[in-house]
This record gives sequence, C-alpha cells and structure tokens, in this order.
Amino acid sequence: MEGSRTTIEERDMTPPAMEPERQQYFMERARLQVKELSDRLGRPLTCCINTFGCQMNARDSEKLLGILETIGYRAVESEEADFVLYNTCTVRENANLRVYGRLGQLGAYKKKHPQMMIALCGCMMQEKEVVDKIKKSYRYVDLIFGTHNIFKLAELVSLCLDSRKKEDESRKAAEGTPVKGHKHKMVIDVWEDTDQIVEDLPVERKYPFKSGVNIMFGCNNFCSYCIVPYVRGRERSRKPEEIIKEIRRLASDGVVEVMLLGQNVNSYGKNLETPMTFAGLLREVEKVDGIRRIRFMTSHPKDLSDELIEVMAGSGKICRHLHLPLQSGSSRILKEMNRHYTKEQFLDLAARIKAAVPGISLTTDIIVGFPGETEEDFLETLDVVRRVGFDSAFTFIYSKRTGTPAAAMEDQVPEDVVKERFDRLLKEVQDISAEVCCRDEHTVQEVLVEEVNDHSPELMTGRLSNNTVVHFPGDVSLIGKLVPVYLEESRGFYYMGKQVDGAL
Ligand code: 5AD
Ligand code: SF4
Repeated sequence: MEGSRTTIEERDMTPPAMEPERQQYFMERARLQVKELSDRLGRPLTCCINTFGCQMNARDSEKLLGILETIGYRAVESEEADFVLYNTCTVRENANLRVYGRLGQLGAYKKKHPQMMIALCGCMMQEKEVVDKIKKSYRYVDLIFGTHNIFKLAELVSLCLDSRKKEDESRKAAEGTPVKGHKHKMVIDVWEDTDQIVEDLPVERKYPFKSGVNIMFGCNNFCSYCIVPYVRGRERSRKPEEIIKEIRRLASDGVVEVMLLGQNVNSYGKNLETPMTFAGLLREVEKVDGIRRIRFMTSHPKDLSDELIEVMAGSGKICRHLHLPLQSGSSRILKEMNRHYTKEQFLDLAARIKAAVPGISLTTDIIVGFPGETEEDFLETLDVVRRVGFDSAFTFIYSKRTGTPAAAMEDQVPEDVVKERFDRLLKEVQDISAEVCCRDEHTVQEVLVEEVNDHSPELMTGRLSNNTVVHFPGDVSLIGKLVPVYLEESRGFYYMGKQVDGAL
C-alpha cells in the first residue's frame, strides 16, 4: 500500500469482526497513524523488542516484530526507541525481577523522549499481581497485553496512538501549552485463556535460514512447581495442514532448518478434530522439499512414544538431538512434581533412545531444591546424570511460584543447602558433558553455518545435527549452508574444525 492516499478518517469504517481480516484492517490503520507521526517528526519511528525466557517467547517476538515492521516501525538495538516492547517470562522469580529492574531505566528514557511508548507482554503479564503492581508503581507504561492475544498488536498500537493523540490535544487545549508529561492512559488487554489460533500474520525471522514453527500452544501437565499452564493456558494444537503450509512457505523462502515448538510436543494433536500423533506430524514435515533439518522442543518423557523413537531412528532429516527434561532423579520427588514417570522409567527411556539412534545427544533440565528434597533424593539426581551422560543440562534452583501446588508445600529446602547442591550438580554436569561431547572428534560432519564468530571474524560458527557448536575458518558466503567439516579438536563444549571438499 506504499504511496496510498487513503487517510485515517477515510479508513474508519467498522473494523471486520473476524480474524485475520480484523488485524489486516488494523495493520493498515496503524500504518497510517505511524506514518502521520513520522511525517510530523520528520524521521522514521523506531522500535525495539527485548525478549526474556524460552524459545516460545523468542518465536512470539518474531511475530510481534513482523507486525511492528508492517505498520512502519524500523527495528533498532537501542531501548531509547519510539516503541519499546518487553516480552516477559515468569517461569522463575528472577525473570520477574529483571523486568522490574529494567523498567526503571525505561521510565528515565521516556522522561527524555515523551513520545516514546512502553509496552509489556508475555507470561508475566498473565499474573494479576504483576499488572496491579505496574498500574501502581510504573504508571508510565502505555500498553500491557498477555500471551493469548499477541496477534492483536496492531489493533492495540492503533488504540494507544489514538488515545494518546486525543489526550495530547485536549491537554494542549486546556493548558494552552505543549504536553511535557510522560504518563498517558494505560491500555490493558490480558485474556485469561483462549482456544483461538490466528494464522497468516506477518513474521520477521531472526535468521533467514532457520526458523521456529509453533505446532501447539499451552500446557495441560500442571507439574507442581510450574507456572506455565496458568499463564499459557490449555493445550491446543495447530492443524497439520496449517503447519505444513507454513513450513513449505519457509522452505521456499530459503529456510533449511525448522524447530517445531510446543511446551510438550509429544502430546501434539490430541485435541484436533482428526487426532494425529507428533510422530505422524514429523513424517509429514519430513516430506517438505528444501527442509534439511528438523528439530523439536520440548519432549515430556511421560509422553514419548515408541513411534517417535522409530521415526527418529529412520529419519535423515530429524536431528540427532533430544531435549528430555529430567527435573529430578528421585522417584519420590518426581511424584511430588506430578511428572508421571519414575527414575527407572526415565533411565529405560534414555537407554532405548540411545540404542535406536546411535550418537544421539541428550540434553535436559534439572531443578535443585524442590520442597522436601533430601540429600538422598539429590544423590539420585546425580546418579541419573552420570548414568545417562547428558551432553548438557540446564540446571535451575527451585523458585517458588505463587499459585502453584509446590508453593504451598511444607519443607522448603534452606537456601545454603540448595546452593551447595546446585554447585555439585553443575560440576558433575560439566565433567560428564566434557567426556561425551567429544564423541565426534576426528570425523567429518555436516555443519549448518550460522554466523561469523563473535571474537574472531575469520572463523565461522555453526552447529552439528546434534546441536554442538563448531568453529572453523570460512567466509560469510557460507552462512545458511550445510557444509562438511572435519572436527579437528574438541574443546569441551565445542569443536574447532576445517571445511573439507564435497558433500557428505
Ligand atoms: N523453579 C525452577 N525451575 C523451574 N522450571 C520451571 N518451573 C520452575 C520453577 N518454579 C524449569 C524446568 C523447566 C524449565 C523450562 O524451567 O526445569 O523444564
Ligand atoms: Fe511446565 Fe510441566 Fe508444562 Fe513443562 S510440561 S511447561 S514443566 S507444566
């Protein structure tokens, strides 16, 4: 619509009620509002998104940026931008604290640039206490929305721009002076839950050659420590035809690697009109021409099927990597965590996967200090870590989340005990990872080249199918390509390599 002469007023018919048509209407409307403002300021408007948390949030931020760019904002790194959006996480308490810490700084920027808009979205905003606190203590925030309505960003921005314009005009008329204050009416739109999935909205990908693809939203598992089911809502799967359509489009756009995303991909498809298993979906994704690598995240051990192991074992595209969160090695604690598997079942599952997919890299998440965890329970965790031989593990100190069953459990473990266990676990994980990560040393493996090395510009950085990082001499023309690399030397968590001729 570049060069269109339509004015905002001419466009102001009743917006369509149905999605995605409604958002397409608001994207055009917001684009005109942004253009009007940018003409007035004599420069383009800038935006900056700061993403906290997991891969789901990272993917949501790509969608949010897609919308902002469509309506005319230009992305910049600096948070001194015209529109700053924090996509927040609340899985652990320190994620919340980081956001509050940064908000003060944003307030200072806004005092300097009163036209600035500050928006907050993501998991933290689904918590009522958080929104109340922001309303009370951070009144310069302009917009709050949640996890269920990110597709509405254009409509919300349009609303904010409208109300700000009206407010500024009426204040100016009343006082006869230009507005200097940095507080405006806060727009809040947080939904408790939804069964709606809005397709076909713009997305701005971080990498041209790889992309996340949501296959499902929400979680029904209610692990007793976890806040995710309360802030991301009930599990709902996208239709396979929509997923395949998106992946075909990505492939024709140059994407060679997709990461299928869901809180628990192994329960994909259960709520579809025509149910489909996750393994069945993988078989369909494999058929898409141009896609060379398929990853997925996250797999709950309780739902990991024999069918999935079989599909992984027989596939030339599914990566040799599985992230399989253990959380604890103690069957007693696992029961308290509501995980629905025992230590023995986890060990058996890991052994079956390793036997079926030789050389596979297993990674995991572990929580230390869940309420009631004894030294014996902790030793069981160390035992599983040793016996499975994880390539790496994200280790977390248990964080009490209000509203979860574990928050009400007695016998919270003292901080110093948790810290001491955490350090022991970290050491064990690092030692084992150094032992297993070198398994491909002195072999030639395919590397997907991702970027120029941060520290040495003559080196390129990429990843093996099993997700291990490789650095090797090369040039930028290799970015996005799959190239054979001889893995000369293992340095613990990564390899130094040398590109070799030919294809694998
Ligand atoms: N405290 C600590 N870690 C947690 N996780 C989820 N909830 C909590 C909590 N309350 C961890 C789990 C999960 C990962 C994404 O975050 O290990 O797999
Ligand atoms: Fe949280 Fe458990 Fe759902 Fe993962 S599976 S998001 S840990 S409730």
